[in-house]
Amino acid sequence: MQMPISYKNDVYPLFRDFDRKSMLAKLDLWKYDDVKQWADKILVAVENGLMPCDAAWPDKSIQLFKQWIADGKLP
Ligand code: HEM
Repeated sequence: MQMPISYKNDVYPLFRDFDRKSMLAKLDLWKYDDVKQWADKILVAVENGLMPCDAAWPDKSIQLFKQWIADGKLP
């Protein structure tokens, strides 16, 4: 059976130190509560290729983030 996607094991590793520093004025990508709160806005930004500002996520990362939301945004 496939393990549900968790922030700690699967989502946190998606965010580079550069991403975190760039976005710290708005939210902390290394904080579960912040990413949970901003999840829908983050999905829109990465799906549109607007974020990260330097290089869009591969589709695999977008699908993983989407699945995390669908699985209930587990910590
Ligand atoms: C995975 C990495 C990243 C995610 C998930 C992300 C997510 C977001 C989101 C959701 C917004 C919209 C904020 C709002 O609605 O107020 C945003 C805005 C922005 N991001 Fe990112 N970001 C990432 C990486 C970066 C990087 C690497 C840069 C550039 C160095 C960057 C620069 C910006 C800027 C300049 C804005 C506009 C801020 C504003 O409206 O004042 N982001 N980002």
